[in-house]
Amino acid sequence: MVGLIQKLFLDMIQALGGEAAVAEIKKQAGVPLDTVFQINEVYPDEEWQRLLAAGLKVLKITPEQADEYYADYFGKDAVKRFPTWFEMCKNSYEFLLIQPTIHNCFATGVADQKSRDVINDKFVVDKLPNKLITHYRSPNGHCGLYKALARWMIRYYKDEAIIDEKQCMKSGGKECEIHIEYPKMGA
Ligand code: HEM
Repeated sequence: MVGLIQKLFLDMIQALGGEAAVAEIKKQAGVPLDTVFQINEVYPDEEWQRLLAAGLKVLKITPEQADEYYADYFGKDAVKRFPTWFEMCKNSYEFLLIQPTIHNCFATGVADQKSRDVINDKFVVDKLPNKLITHYRSPNGHCGLYKALARWMIRYYKDEAIIDEKQCMKSGGKECEIHIEYPKMGA
């Protein structure tokens, strides 16, 4: 997982629970206390999963609550950190369409081909009139985060859209298939 995710997660913990909570989470996750996650570097997925699990325990929140808090923290940070992506898109449909491209930009900076492929292969978006279908496959199983971030983008652009996950890897599907429908688009 690219370090932007871990960095912002620990920044969020710091804001919610202070330095002590960050230290406890690193300790429980087996991450050295002095680790500083770099936003363009790739770190092991297993380490990220341990950090997340420890975060849920220390903050006493559910995975669903973590997705909502994190999506909000991440969205607010992304608007400031990467304003160009937001300026390029006139609505959430355009943003969600280029989301895999944004992710793949992080992959281009990664030296080894295998790590690049792992990032590039997680998301594919089909473009239909009034609808996007996102195909998501990842050992991290973050379709809940995907939907929380998609809701955040829809609110940010003041759009109306319906999100429906038709298939999920957690229920035995071969991928997570998330439909985002814009009933009023082009009306
Ligand atoms: C400026 C906007 C965004 C930036 C800079 C960004 C960046 C990133 C980066 C660097 C990662 C780690 C990639 C990896 O290691 O595979 C990531 C993960 C993720 N992002 Fe984004 N992202 C953005 C917007 C979005 C949006 C809008 C969504 C969903 C609607 C989204 C959904 C996810 C999910 C679900 C993951 C976890 C993937 C996994 O490991 O399974 N991102 N993002």
